[in-house]
Amino acid sequence: MTITKYNGRELYESIGRPKTIVAPMVDQSELAWRILSRRYGAELCYTPMYHARLFATDEKYRKRMWSSLDGDEKVDRPLIVQFCANDPEYLLKAAQLVEDKCDAVDLNLGCPQGIAKKGKYGAFLMDDWELVHKLILNLHENLKIPVTAKIRVYDEWEKSLEYAKMVLDAGAQFITIHGRTRDMKGQATGLANWEILKYLRENLGEDQVFFANGNILYANDLKRCSELIGCDAVMSAEGNLYNPGVFWTKDDNIDKQFARVDKMLREYFEIVKECESHASRTAMKAHFFKILHAFLVKHPELRPIIGQTSVHESFEKWDEVVQKVERIVEEIYERPDIKEVDVIRDGPIQSWGGFYKEIPYWRCQPYFRTVNGEKQNTRTLKVAATKDTDKDIKDKDIKDKEAKEDIKDKDDIKDNKRRLEEVSSSNKKMAL
Ligand SMILES: Cc1cc2nc3c(=O)[nH]c(=O)nc-3n(C[C@H](O)[C@H](O)[C@H](O)COP(=O)(O)O)c2cc1C
Repeated sequence: MTITKYNGRELYESIGRPKTIVAPMVDQSELAWRILSRRYGAELCYTPMYHARLFATDEKYRKRMWSSLDGDEKVDRPLIVQFCANDPEYLLKAAQLVEDKCDAVDLNLGCPQGIAKKGKYGAFLMDDWELVHKLILNLHENLKIPVTAKIRVYDEWEKSLEYAKMVLDAGAQFITIHGRTRDMKGQATGLANWEILKYLRENLGEDQVFFANGNILYANDLKRCSELIGCDAVMSAEGNLYNPGVFWTKDDNIDKQFARVDKMLREYFEIVKECESHASRTAMKAHFFKILHAFLVKHPELRPIIGQTSVHESFEKWDEVVQKVERIVEEIYERPDIKEVDVIRDGPIQSWGGFYKEIPYWRCQPYFRTVNGEKQNTRTLKVAATKDTDKDIKDKDIKDKEAKEDIKDKDDIKDNKRRLEEVSSSNKKMAL
């Protein structure tokens, strides 16, 4: 097979101009999950982050992470394989092992976890621009396929822009920007800042292929995000994990956008059974918990059953778990009022001016992380690259709007005065 090495825009066109992207997710964006997500509208997928040195040197690790079906032309494309690295040679070796099985190789520059700090990779390379440049350039010059990069932002907007420019100058062909800073993780996750993404997008030039990442809860957020930022595509991680239907934008089909959990679980489970992929098998339990997240709040009796079933347990045993869920949901659908209750409603207006959807618990839905025991959707959150919380920003928007209206009112008064004066002077003239 001959491989043409495209530049960013050509590559984007060659893979069908994807608009919706499954984010790289350690232990979660593996083969079976990607196949499922594509059925629900994902047009491009990233693999989980692989450790470049281990991938290049440890066959056991590689076999656990990468199966013969990964990157298969028929079931797993377009695909970008992501690595974390701090050594250009190991990164190149690892990338060369997959260069015939994917469309591009991505460098992770966003992982903020302690393990990345210890290993000096991911977001901790934000302190060593020279190394970032070397890592990307070496792939750009020596790999058969293009290199891409996924970064986080700094608090300073100009510095974020300089950083993104350096990454692109080194040879990255797509840039994905996660609108949170390195410190925003765990309890301090807060909100991604779409305004800084808009600023970066505008300043990197229209021809730069630009993917925005952060804050997607529902399918209609994709449009809001891409319209505000003007990005080529939108990437989602948590939104996709809890509801693969987050990418469904073809129509408002409730069974696609917020599928029944029993149907989604069955579909996903059947895919895992078909994929001979170690990573897909071991990730299954975590996916069960996420698909069923809201459902388990109402049916906590299922929690220990899933929890105590080993990932290595037979498929028959796991099938019993799926069947339990199926039986419960079937019963729900026998309720006489099912038609009235099985609907998606817009919830009450929140303090920040927007609203959340009310989704029946037997359907897939977004998850709101709890911070200090408080649901994230009831508190105001720090917004990346600002000193403000979401509420401050909304309050400021309201004040700005009021101030504008005030100015407009004053202008209107002046206008009216002027018009009255004109009328009275012309009246005077007529009287003369
Ligand atoms: C379970 C999980 C695993 C993740 N693993 C990776 C990873 O391997 N590489 C990476 O670049 N980002 C990783 N991330 C970050 C996401 O790709 C994404 O940037 C972040 O979650 C923000 O997107 P979201 O607001 O849609 O969740 C991970 C996130 C989650 C939730």
